[in-house]
Amino acid sequence: MVSIMANEWIVASAPGKVILAGEHFVVKGEPAIAMAISLRARAYVRFREDKDIVIESENLKVRSVPTRGIVKEELIPIVSIVNKIVEMSNCNRGIELRIKSEIPPASGMGSSAAVAVACAAALNELLNLNLGLDEICKIAYEAEVIVHKKPSGIDNTISTYGGVILYRKGKGFESIQYNIKNHKFILADSGLPRNTGVMVSNVLSLYNKYERILKHVYKASRELVMMVVDALRKGDAEMLGDLMNINHGLLSAIGVSNAKLEELVYIARMNGAKGAKITGAGGGGFIVALVDNSSYSKVMNALRTVSRRVFVTEVSKDGVKIEKDN
Ligand code: PMV
Repeated sequence: MVSIMANEWIVASAPGKVILAGEHFVVKGEPAIAMAISLRARAYVRFREDKDIVIESENLKVRSVPTRGIVKEELIPIVSIVNKIVEMSNCNRGIELRIKSEIPPASGMGSSAAVAVACAAALNELLNLNLGLDEICKIAYEAEVIVHKKPSGIDNTISTYGGVILYRKGKGFESIQYNIKNHKFILADSGLPRNTGVMVSNVLSLYNKYERILKHVYKASRELVMMVVDALRKGDAEMLGDLMNINHGLLSAIGVSNAKLEELVYIARMNGAKGAKITGAGGGGFIVALVDNSSYSKVMNALRTVSRRVFVTEVSKDGVKIEKDN
C-alpha cells in the first residue's frame, strides 16, 4: 500500500464526448453511439491537515465546505460523490478536491459526467478503495441523476471507458472499432443555453402525444445507429457523413433543432462537410461536422463567421485515468 503524504495531489482525468448517433432515442431504450473526445475534465485531490472537506470548481468559480454545512447548488452532485466514497472508505481525514475542466459546460459534450467520473476516480485512488471502472461509472451515474433527472447513462459510460461505444440504456455497452482515417470532427457552438433535463422531458411529452408517428422515427434511429456501427468498422466516411445528416433530420422531427442549429449544420455542409448534426440534447449547445483534410479549413472558417466557439477534435482512446501531478 502506498502511503500518501498530506500535501500530495492525486489527479484523475476523464474525457468529454460527442454523440455520433441516437441521442434522445437512447432515453427510451434505443441504441446510441458516443465517442470520447480530446477535451478532458480533471479532479485534483489531497488530504488536508484539518478535518474539513473542501470542494472547489475553477470553471464554475464556486466552493463548498460540506463539513461546515456550506454547499453550493452547482456542487451538490459532486458533494454526493464525495460523501458516498468517504462513507465507503470510513476515512475521517479532511480532503481537498479541485475541479478543472476543458469541456465547455452545458454544451452537449458531457462535462458534468466527465467531472463526476474524474472526481470518483481521484477519490478512489486517494482513499485506496480499489474500485473498478464499473463502480466508478455507477457512482458517476448517480451524480448524473441529480444533474439531469433521467439520464440514459451514456455520458458517464463513455467518460469512464473512452473510445467509441454502442450504448443501450440498462443493457450496458460495447466498444466499437473506429477505422475512419484522415477525417476530423469540427464542433461549433450555437451560443444558445439549454438544459438537457428540459429537452429530454419535452421530447418524451412529444412522443406521448404523437406515439403513432414517432415510434417509427425511433425505429428509424435504431436502424441508423446499427448502420453507423458498420460505417465506423468499415472506415466508410461517406456513409458516416450521410448517416449523420439523416440523424440530424430525425432530431429535427422530435423538435430539438432550431434556426441557429440549422444554420450551423447547413453552413458546415455547404462548405464541404461530409455530414453535420446536432450533438447531444439540442435546443442549443453544439453541432458536430465530419470533415476530410481538403474541406477542413473551409468549414472551420465558414463556421467561425457564425459561431463564437469552433474547434476540432479527434477520438480519444483513453477513458478515465490517473495522471501525474502537474
Ligand atoms: O446533455 P447532452 O447534451 O450531452 O445530451 C445527453 C444525451 C441525451 O440523449 C439527450 C440524454 C441522455 O441522457 O442520454
